[in-house]
Parts: sequence; C-alpha cells; structure tokens
Amino acid sequence: MFKVAIIGAGNVGATAADYIAIKNLAHVVLVDINDGAARGKSLDLLQTGPLSLHSSPIQGSGSYEATAGSDIVVITAGVPRKEGMTRDDLLRINAQIVRSAATEALKYSPDAIFTVVTNPLDVMTQLTYQVTGLPSQKVLGMAGVLDSARFQTFIAMELGVSPVDVKAMVLGGHGDLMVPLLRHASVNGIPALELISPERMKELAARTRDGGAEIVKLLKTGSAYYAPGASIALMVEAILRDENRLLPCSVLASGQHGLSGMYLGLPAVIGRSGVKRIVELPLNADEVKALTASAASIEQNVAAMNTLIGWGQEEPAATESAATKEADPEK
Ligand code: APR
Repeated sequence: MFKVAIIGAGNVGATAADYIAIKNLAHVVLVDINDGAARGKSLDLLQTGPLSLHSSPIQGSGSYEATAGSDIVVITAGVPRKEGMTRDDLLRINAQIVRSAATEALKYSPDAIFTVVTNPLDVMTQLTYQVTGLPSQKVLGMAGVLDSARFQTFIAMELGVSPVDVKAMVLGGHGDLMVPLLRHASVNGIPALELISPERMKELAARTRDGGAEIVKLLKTGSAYYAPGASIALMVEAILRDENRLLPCSVLASGQHGLSGMYLGLPAVIGRSGVKRIVELPLNADEVKALTASAASIEQNVAAMNTLIGWGQEEPAATESAATKEADPEK
C-alpha cells in the first residue's frame, strides 16, 4: 500500500487526508506541531471508513518518525497572514516552517515526491527544492489545479452547465498575477469564447484571480480548504496511479517561454516519477507577457525569502547538490 505523509493537520491537510482516504489511495499519516490535533483528526477521519466505505489507514502524530517510507510528502504546515503581519513576516515564518518540515520529512522518506501547498506557494515550492536537494522532477507545488477548478466553476455557473464539462487552465504564480488562459478554456471541446463574450470572460478570470480572497472575506477566520484539499488529492492520485495527467502545477521552469531556474505554474505531465515533462503551449504575445510579469514577481519574492532566511550563506552545498542532481534525474 502506498503511504502519504501530510505535514500540517490544519483545514487543508485534514481535508486532503479525507479525500485521499475516500479514494482508497494510501495509508495517510498526518503530522502537526500540535500532535493532539493530528491524532484527534486522524481518529475522526478513520471513523468515516465504515460510512464512506474506505479502508485507508489514517494515523496522526507529532513526530516525523511516523512518516517513514512515504511515497509522497504533502506540506501544508504554515500560518495564515494575521492583522499587523507584513508579507515579509509571513514569508519569514512560513519559510522557517516549510524548511524544517521539508528537512525532517526528507530524513525519513528520502525517496518521496514532495508536494507543497503552503503559501506563498511558488516561493515555498522553490524553498523545498532548495532545502531537499532533490531533482526538480520530485518537487512540485499545488496551485494551478485549484485556480483552474475555480475558473472552470465560474464558467460553468455562467453557462448553467455542469462543471464536469468545462476545461480550463490557469498558469503562472499562485497570486494576483496568475494567468487564466481564456483562449484555451472550453466546454466539451467548444471554445468558451464562442459561448461567453471576451469582456465577460475577463470578469470570470478576474474573479478567479481573487478566488481565494473572496472566500477569506466570507469566512473571516481562515481560508479555503475543500477545493484545495480536493486539488491535492487529485495530484496525489495522478502520481500514485501513474496517470500521466496533464495538470497545471508549480514546477521548475527550464527554458519554457524564456523562463528558467524558477518555480511557477506550467502544464506538466504528472505520474509515478513526479513531473515527467513540462509542456510548452503556443501562447500569444499577451499571454507570454502576463506569464513573464507573474514570474518576475515570484523571483522578487524568492530573493526576499532567501535574504530573510539567510539562504545562500549557510547551505551552498545543498544548492550545488540540487543543481548536480538536476542534470541527472536518476540520482
Ligand atoms: N510543523 C508542523 N505543523 C505546523 C508547524 C510546524 N512547524 N507550524 C504550523 N503547523 C500547523 C498548524 O498547527 C496547523 O494545524 O499547520 C497547520 C496549518 O493549518 P491551518 O492554520 O488550518 O491552515 P490551512 O487552512 O490548513 O492552510 C495551510 O495551505 O492553502 C495554504 O495558505 C494556506 O499556507 C496555508 C496552508
């Protein structure tokens, strides 16, 4: 049986565990600094087995030892931005949390594929790549699947059709500059732009960009977790079942659209070895411009994070090993 470790048993982590269990995908281990929350939620989830008809073992712990031998590590640990906290504060705190989560999890599961969910997403995924020294094929971030699901939902609502029939992709960073692809959205193969005016499509894209904030505003005490949890489960399923799904994920760009050496949302074929390949779409000039702007903003944040946590001064060896392994993905 496959094993999936989820670091952070908060709303997103526990919801992801729920979806993974219902799909009978793996033995799930939830780890949290608050071990009572990890253990309590695991027990609660385990008791859904006879009701949701799954037999997935679910375990909670305050220690990484329980995650030993995981096939996938999902990092959702972090803190949300609170009043009075600057973006740099959030960046520093979550970078420290993700750095320790990635380092500890790697000790017990050196062969795992790491999937990052903690925000700011693309920056935290890049950090995980840096600290683990794993080949980039084994480190990816979850954002595009969620943002695309939001875009698909809004298109479906607009047309009064099933969301199942809507396909759309959102690329770029998981932030204000994300790039919903209007020309490529379709309803069972029919271009959405033949059914919805370009002006209205732009409004739906804008609502997608603000999709997370819209939910935060309504919830008041937290951020979205059902669709994020389902998005993680979908990626975990694609990896464990070696599905070769073409999904927008935060991956290390290697020359696509002139971008290189940085994590951002691009279409990638996902399977048992992680990111099997990145697909470069024939984007038009406006789309490339939007993607480049999004990439520039991520690069700035990565530089800020590296300065805040002092990266580059203390661990040059790990960066070197990441680069070396990059050249030979079999390592
Ligand atoms: N190690 C392990 N767990 C930690 C650590 C740590 N060092 N620090 C915090 N946590 C745990 C918290 O105890 C909490 O249970 O991370 C969990 C975060 O859960 P929530 O606060 O409920 O946040 P959630 O809504 O799940 O979002 C988690 O995913 O979508 C992103 O922006 C979101 O970055 C956030 C992350």
